[in-house]
Amino acid sequence: MANTILVGAQWGDEGKGKIIDFLTEKADIVVRSQGGNNAGHTVIVNGVKYVLHLIPSGILRPGKQCVIGNGVVIDPVAVAGEISGLRKQKIKVTKENLLISDCAHLVLPYHRSLDVQRETGKGKNKIGTTKRGIGPAYGDKAARVGLRMSDLMQPELFREKLAARFEENNALLEALGAEPLDYHQTLADYLAAAKALRPFVTNTVVFLHEALESRKEILFEGAQGTFLDIDHGTYPFVTSSNTTAGGACTGSGVPPHRMDKVLGVVKAYTTRVGEGPFPTENDALGDMLHGMGREFGATTGRARRCGWFDAVSTRYAGILNGIDEMAVTNLDGLDSLDSIRICTHYKLGSKLLSHPPGDVLQLARCKPVYIEMPGWKTSTENARTFSALPKNARAYLKKLAELSGAKLTIASVGPGREQTIVL
Ligand code: GDP
Ligand code: IMO
Ligand code: MG
Repeated sequence: MANTILVGAQWGDEGKGKIIDFLTEKADIVVRSQGGNNAGHTVIVNGVKYVLHLIPSGILRPGKQCVIGNGVVIDPVAVAGEISGLRKQKIKVTKENLLISDCAHLVLPYHRSLDVQRETGKGKNKIGTTKRGIGPAYGDKAARVGLRMSDLMQPELFREKLAARFEENNALLEALGAEPLDYHQTLADYLAAAKALRPFVTNTVVFLHEALESRKEILFEGAQGTFLDIDHGTYPFVTSSNTTAGGACTGSGVPPHRMDKVLGVVKAYTTRVGEGPFPTENDALGDMLHGMGREFGATTGRARRCGWFDAVSTRYAGILNGIDEMAVTNLDGLDSLDSIRICTHYKLGSKLLSHPPGDVLQLARCKPVYIEMPGWKTSTENARTFSALPKNARAYLKKLAELSGAKLTIASVGPGREQTIVL
């Protein structure tokens, strides 16, 4: 396997965690390079469920090295908790298989509180964030007032810097009508987390370049999805990082020419959590999927909004990310349908669009233009080869790839590691 960037090509929750876990078998290193614990990546191995938020999904495979890169925003208390949770599930997490960048920025309690305050202040215009403080943490990074893992590793320095940041942020919180936060409590909590994290913290750029020199193969695990990208997504209904392929370079320090391949992961339909336009949203499809107990958020438990596959957006994701190969997950979710819609174009007034407009108000006015394909009305969950899939399911998958402009290489027919078809 070559150095591969894996991205979500929709609005997140495409099944990236499951595909990463599957591909890790052939990789040496798995790297997270953006986002924070807003992510929730579900992996099911031998019937046991693991939900990863900050730690790469590669951690579940013994002998593989995981890296949390400089571009990730880390809540140290959350990541320490995630490590102990995994250990309780009998997953080994040591400095031999997990490294954390010393340049990664910290998420602090005032970021979470500001996230909540800003959402509340927006009222019906809220973004629907995960309330994990992601936006304010990346905001501080861009404003050059953030604290980083390297600060946390130096208790005296951290104490001082934190005090200064508390002064400003508590004033801000009070001005917004919120309770100020307890500096001493935060200091104690963060220094305790620092102790637990110290063995993992290092210069991950040097580590990754040494690995490249010795021809190790690296898998870059995207978080969120293309249309949650801060630049290219449905702004302002986005997250605060570059979720598209370029984010893997800036967020890890591995340059573009060392990347060999981009794999886009999509669901066989579309889901979105949080607010913002969603042209192919369909409540009946959502009711069906929720009725099957599916499509509830891995981080917040919210019911995901559901809709038909939107090839206008996946085609655009294809050009933005340079997607060579495509993995389609959750094919089995459509097993019971008589017929299935795919959006091929948008209608905006009298204009027919083959790419989504950048302006969110225009996107909200777009009407999907559909083609309809016959369903297969057969369970696909036990299929293990492409030829074992019903003919209509094969035709549907091929159509998704053709319309998205990518080569179909993986189809997934269930959450389990084994429910994966390689083409
Ligand atoms: P991620 O954030 O992209 O890793 O995706 P999530 O884990 O948030 O959401 C994907 C959900 O779909 C999880 O519950 C997975 O266990 C599940 N899943 C992934 N692939 C398949 C599939 O092919 N079929 C079914 N039934 N579930 C799947
Ligand atoms: P994974 O990695 C789906 C969404 C939130 C909200 C918007 C901004 O599991 O695919 P934020 O907390 O980031 O400021 O929220 O982004 N969002 C996700 N939606 N999957 C995710 O991650 C998401 N991470 C953030 O619901 O709409
Ligand atoms: Mg998720």
